[in-house]
Amino acid sequence: MPFLLETKDLTKRFGGLTAVDHVSFGVGAGEVVALLGDNGAGKSTLIKMISGVYRPDAGDIFLEGKKVEIDTPMDAIAHGIETIYQDLALAENIDVSSNIFLGREKTRKVLGFIDILHNDYMVKESKRILDNLDIVIPSLKANIRNLSGGQRQAVAISRSIYWNAKVLIMDEPTAALGIAEQKKVLVIVSSFKNRV
Ligand SMILES: Nc1ncnc2c1ncn2[C@@H]1O[C@H](COP(=O)(O)OP(=O)(O)OP(=O)(O)O)[C@@H](O)[C@H]1O
Ligand SMILES: [Mg+2]
Repeated sequence: MPFLLETKDLTKRFGGLTAVDHVSFGVGAGEVVALLGDNGAGKSTLIKMISGVYRPDAGDIFLEGKKVEIDTPMDAIAHGIETIYQDLALAENIDVSSNIFLGREKTRKVLGFIDILHNDYMVKESKRILDNLDIVIPSLKANIRNLSGGQRQAVAISRSIYWNAKVLIMDEPTAALGIAEQKKVLVIVSSFKNRV
């Protein structure tokens, strides 16, 4: 069985500084892998190469044994790689379901030709995915700004899962969370593992 995701000799330099130096590792389907390292060790940079933010200077990325070129974040998403960055990429000023569908909004036609947002559908789908993951958010109409750190993290994870991520990468998902919220995120991660 090939790894679901594998890197070989992945390398990234910023000027004279080698941030990631020939990193080779593999992750199997259903596996939860943690990458540990000191501040500035290169963890986020490694993630950003896999998720199409940075181009590697050397090395290759393989998905299910096949070499892939990931030039942009959209390429990564098209390959089923969803990333939740260290500085959580949720839009603060819009509500939960709008965040889950951000950039991939569902529309419906009125009068046969005008596209408008299909809000009912997006709210219903958001509720379904959050319920599935046992995530309780007081109101799907609540702006992200008004949620706790753990709830935000849960929304970000739900979004990735909803879009059928094969590989979910989280950069320090619990760094900003309290103990109870950290536990909740770990429970969600293990339930995600069991979905494979
Ligand atoms: N865009 C950039 N330009 C120049 N140097 C960078 C850039 N991004 C990261 N670096 C440098 O690369 C090295 C690795 O940084 P990176 O953010 O990958 O570390 P990290 O392991 O994620 O650290 P932390 O635990 O603090 O998040 C650091 O020395 C950092 O200063
Ligand atoms: Mg980092």
